Amino acid sequence: MKGRLEELRRQAEAELSAARSRDELSAIRTKYLGRKGLLTAVLRGLGSASESDRPALGRLSNEIKEAVSSRIEEEIRRLDEEAKSRSLQAEKIDVTLPGRRIVSGNLHPITQIRNEICEIFAGLGFSIVEGPEVEFDYYNFEALNMPKDHPARDMQDTFYISDSIVLRTHTSPVQVRIMEKRKPPVRIIAPGKVYRCDSDVTHSPMFHQIEGLLVDRGISFGDLKGVLTSFARQVFGEKTRLRFRPSFFPFTEPSAEVDIQCVICGGSGCRVCGQSGWLEILGSGMVHPEVFRIVGYDPEEVTGFAFGLGLERIAMLKHGISDIRLFYENDMRFLSQF
Ligand code: PHE
Repeated sequence: MKGRLEELRRQAEAELSAARSRDELSAIRTKYLGRKGLLTAVLRGLGSASESDRPALGRLSNEIKEAVSSRIEEEIRRLDEEAKSRSLQAEKIDVTLPGRRIVSGNLHPITQIRNEICEIFAGLGFSIVEGPEVEFDYYNFEALNMPKDHPARDMQDTFYISDSIVLRTHTSPVQVRIMEKRKPPVRIIAPGKVYRCDSDVTHSPMFHQIEGLLVDRGISFGDLKGVLTSFARQVFGEKTRLRFRPSFFPFTEPSAEVDIQCVICGGSGCRVCGQSGWLEILGSGMVHPEVFRIVGYDPEEVTGFAFGLGLERIAMLKHGISDIRLFYENDMRFLSQF
């Protein structure tokens, strides 16, 4: 009987060493320690052993039962440990890895230059106003000293909505709307979209302008030069040289177009400035007395200057962009550079 017990112990231990799962372990438990288990059966047979052998056999079989049972518990613990460390390994987080960056958007380059220019003029005492993009012929042309048959209307390829309504071709109609509503002094800028039937690498059917208007007693061409010089130097740099070139607009007299020294070649002449060394950035002039009369201002009492600048053109010069269409294609590779 003793031999049988020793044999069962070896057998159980061998099976336990080979067990790889909880299921296998509990099958072993049932096989040896269960109600109909092999060890249990040997214990039951203890009664038939001799009186003198019985205590030693009883001790031995209990000892083996204990040993097998605790070995099973131990194996279960070991398997649990292993499973736990496997899953910890799988879920491991390396807290020293760099985090994922959130890609933040940015303002459109035209919006940026508009904000920048508005801030510069705000610093010079101008306040910001707006006007409609769908405009009456009256404000876009008529009240700006361009009657119906005026040849200057041909300068701008107008989108007509009806005989009397157009898409504004410039922001100058805002001058008229403001002067109709307010008494001098007036000091405003008006940013916004304008429309012309024109399209190539430097022209878009929709583009942006900022209009400026300053009216008060005793305003002179010197004030115009001072304000526009200060503006251009804040945008293009302190050393920027300006040129005021005589020009013509029906609503200003005298009129001037303002050039800055070419930002590409510095004035020596290149492809961008057409070898002239100068780049036009805006149109301007002293408000025409006829425009004052139309809005009910007395040209004997007040004078003023006005200017209009194209935002795309300024952004293109500032950033060295050669194709205006890039502004409207919403290509992130372009937009994210600003
Ligand atoms: N409105 C003119 C244009 O679009 C620019 C301008 C504005 C000129 C104000 C003189 C005064 O070309």
